[in-house]
Amino acid sequence: HDNAGSCLERTLVMIKPNMISKSDQIIPEIEQAGFVILQQRRVRFTPEQASDFYAEHYGKMFFPSLIAFMSSGPTLAMVVAKRNAINGFRQILGPTNSEQAREVNPKSFRARYGTDTLKNAMHGSESQHAAEREIRFIFPDSITEPILSGDESTQY
Ligand code: PPS
Repeated sequence: HDNAGSCLERTLVMIKPNMISKSDQIIPEIEQAGFVILQQRRVRFTPEQASDFYAEHYGKMFFPSLIAFMSSGPTLAMVVAKRNAINGFRQILGPTNSEQAREVNPKSFRARYGTDTLKNAMHGSESQHAAEREIRFIFPDSITEPILSGDESTQY
């Protein structure tokens, strides 16, 4: 798309295990920010599934702790849609490290709900490619086409 900034996109959002108990508080905040929740699913990752989901980080120092954390309890995964959803959601998420988020964007989700780089409350896809892959990973039956092709209407 040459008008990516105005394109209705989908992104994968995940509430991480230590914050799933706050879902009732977090979900309305996501909707108030203008995101439409298209699909939602509680996922309990096995360590193998978590390793597959985070495969791009394999070999990094933090990989074992990330996998242990993400398979320590259920997560809540959602497909959400909005114009420019991928970057837009990462804006309201805040930086990976919740301590840094509290400095640079104190209203962000990670600033308010997270602890540090590991327990950072939520995940949001970081690119169009990642979003498509992660949506297919968690919701294998979902459509993979772009949800809107160029028109200004509000249909989903
Ligand atoms: S990187 O290395 O820049 O690609 O990492 P980043 O994109 O910032 O983070 C990717 C995910 O890895 C988690 N992470 C960590 N976990 C534990 N310890 C440390 N030091 C650490 N650094 C990054 C981080 O929570 C990210 O998870 P997601 O679910 O993608 O937010």
